[in-house]
This record gives sequence, C-alpha cells and structure tokens, in this order.
Amino acid sequence: MPDESKTENPDDIVNRRQFFAKLGLGSLGIAAAGTAAFAYQFLEPNVLYEPSPVVNAGKPDRYPLDSVTLDVNSGIYIIHSQEGYFSLSAVCTHLGCLTTWKPELGIIACPCHGSKFAVWERGNLKPGDKIEGPAPKPLPWKRVWLNDDGDLLVDRSTDVPPLQRDSFVRV
Ligand code: FES
Repeated sequence: MPDESKTENPDDIVNRRQFFAKLGLGSLGIAAAGTAAFAYQFLEPNVLYEPSPVVNAGKPDRYPLDSVTLDVNSGIYIIHSQEGYFSLSAVCTHLGCLTTWKPELGIIACPCHGSKFAVWERGNLKPGDKIEGPAPKPLPWKRVWLNDDGDLLVDRSTDVPPLQRDSFVRV
C-alpha cells in the first residue's frame, strides 16, 4: 500500500517552481543593480573638487606701504614694499608649519623649529631668503597680478622663478 504521506502534492511542486523562479529573478536583479552601479561609477566624471588656487586679495590700498599681511586661510603674505606689491608663501619649507610675521624684528619666523626668513632686501638677502634655521629653501614667491577691477590676485599654485623675483606689481 503506497504511503500517502510521501506523495507530492502538485500544489507543492508549483510552489517550489515558483520559489526557484523568484530566486533566479532576484539573483538577476541583484546582478543588474551591481552592474548599473559600476557603470554609473565609470561614467561619472572623476573630478576632485578643490578650492581655486587663485586668491583675490582685494584692493591694493588695503595694504599700507611697508606692510606685511598674513592671510591665514590662504597661507600667503601680501607685502607692500617700496618696489611694489608681492606675495610670499607663509608655509615653512622645512616641515610645512605656518610662519608668522615678526614686525619687531622685521622678519618672518617659523614657530616650529626656528627658521627665519627675510622680508626686505638686506645685503645679499632677497625677500623670502632663509636667514637661519633648518628650512632647506627660501619661502617661494607667488605670482601676483591685477585683474580688470583693480584687485590684487595671487596664484598660490605658481611659484615665481628665482630670476624673476624682482617682478613687483606697481599701482
Ligand atoms: Fe619651520 Fe621646521 S617647520 S622650521
């Protein structure tokens, strides 16, 4: 006599088929979503959004003659000398500390390891040259120009070559 308890119910077979069909469709859906995510990443522009290296330092008359102004946010000095306007990086060439202007000494000094830099031309020293300390290089000059509105612009990404370090902006 057949054991009725082991006989498969046709409804169970259909249910199993439906289950595997849904499982297959689900797997295809997950694979399609993964492919779409990779395709989106591939097609999306691979751009790094950084702030512009060009700083608008405002009108030249903001800077009195013989002044050294530190722009902490931009890491630059705007200097108004007898020769004109120029800009120095405020980032120490030793290990990258932010330097400070010492008006009582007439120099730029690094608080980290004591490097000192010239601001004014003195003997053989040019603005930015190292006076003493472990810094291996002078503070770089940054390119400065006037825009059409008469604002001083500084390009932090462009160092002025050593032989052009007498190119001041004159107003
Ligand atoms: Fe300026 Fe070391 S970081 S002297």
